[in-house]
Amino acid sequence: MSKSAKTVYACTECGAQSPKWAGQCGDCGAWNSLQETVAAPTAKADSRFGGYAGGADAAVIRNLSDVVAQDTQRIPTGLDELDRVLGGGLVTGSVVLIGGDPGIGKSTLLVQALALLSDRMSALYVSGEESAEQISLRAHRLGLPTQRLRLLTETCVERILALIARDRPRVLVLDSIQTLYTESLQSAPGSVAQVRESAARLVRFAKQTGTSLFLVGHVTKEGALAGPRVLEHMVDTVLYFEGESGSPFRLVRAIKNRFGAVNELGVFAMTDTGLRQVSNPSAIFLSRHEQEVAGSCILVTREGTRPLLVEVQALVDQSPLANPRRVALGLEQNRLSMLLAVMHRHGGIAVFDQDVFLNVVGGVRVTEPAADLPVLLAVLSSLRDRPVPGGLATFGEVGLAGEIRPVPNGQERLLEAAKHGFRRAIVPRANAPKKPIAGLEVVAVSRIGEAIDALG
Ligand code: TYD
Ligand code: MG
Repeated sequence: MSKSAKTVYACTECGAQSPKWAGQCGDCGAWNSLQETVAAPTAKADSRFGGYAGGADAAVIRNLSDVVAQDTQRIPTGLDELDRVLGGGLVTGSVVLIGGDPGIGKSTLLVQALALLSDRMSALYVSGEESAEQISLRAHRLGLPTQRLRLLTETCVERILALIARDRPRVLVLDSIQTLYTESLQSAPGSVAQVRESAARLVRFAKQTGTSLFLVGHVTKEGALAGPRVLEHMVDTVLYFEGESGSPFRLVRAIKNRFGAVNELGVFAMTDTGLRQVSNPSAIFLSRHEQEVAGSCILVTREGTRPLLVEVQALVDQSPLANPRRVALGLEQNRLSMLLAVMHRHGGIAVFDQDVFLNVVGGVRVTEPAADLPVLLAVLSSLRDRPVPGGLATFGEVGLAGEIRPVPNGQERLLEAAKHGFRRAIVPRANAPKKPIAGLEVVAVSRIGEAIDALG
């Protein structure tokens, strides 16, 4: 599109358009809601058919059964953990958005993946953030095969599109979408309008040519605004990088995936030679205590299709406050309050004069209710200052009536616990295995009282 492409200012609240920017929308009266957008060319309406006949021959209505679905072609990236979150490999023509805090490892991951892919197909890395020298330096330091990896430093979408239309890479990385700008808009790179329009053009190119596209998006301080969130609906797959700044572990989580399961998790460790895959994550999230400590309990959770052992830690301490603190890291705070109430009402254990702190070791975030029972046991263990016996793993949902409810895939979780040398498991009655599992004593409980008793 040329520079003379028409732009208008559209209200984000009511959609009204105005040729000039104003602080207030003239239609709905909202303040600061006008955003620059590219004016859509209006088709000449045919008034005979309510104005919609114009494009009638462009699309046809079909029976779903007549549509022959082609098998999605998947390319293994060479990084199994990345393939796992993508749903089993990179789909040709798919658009993947990778979001995360600055400095968490997005560029590192993509350079590594692209270098591995470049061996098998034409791959292009477009950077708007780092210079070619910086990227080359990093790739060399990581010991990556760089002979066939191609590089472009450019931020103008029109120029990028012109170049890739000639070069036709099969895999393309754009790092990052916030640095790109299109000449058809006057707003600064990184603004909502620029991010959205630049991404829309690149997505269109990827779909038309069957190029697999990775878009990198920083999560901005302002949160949703101009960050990856405005793009989530445009792309096929959304991956988010998680991890604590102090910890070397980086989790890549699928938030949306049109070609696979969501909540799949890829685990990496940031080392001085780049991101290393962690194929056995249970082993790293379990901190090995020299001696048994009070307030620690092992949870068998599930992330996507894989069971994962993590350590839940609780600290219960006399509170000087009228409203004792309830702090949960990696778990839901409301759920903790609820569990403490259930523990009081159905287990007869009160903590209303105690601060309760809860943490999942290793910066993992657990969102499933299977964490209820381990949380309860960890809190109890800290309150009584009595360690949970070593070699005990547990999972289970706690209901408001004090019942222990089953969770999905109990058998698989128990096998994972046994694989890591756990000898005892406290689980919901309905999750008790039909056949005994070698080396694992399973204690099935159906009420919160039984679980407390089982702890001894
Ligand atoms: P980077 O991939 O540049 O982050 P992003 O693109 O998400 O902003 O990662 C940068 C961080 O990773 C930086 O703080 C240094 C660290 N790092 C290592 O620890 N080891 C390495 O081999 C590399 C390449 C980076
Ligand atoms: Mg980067």
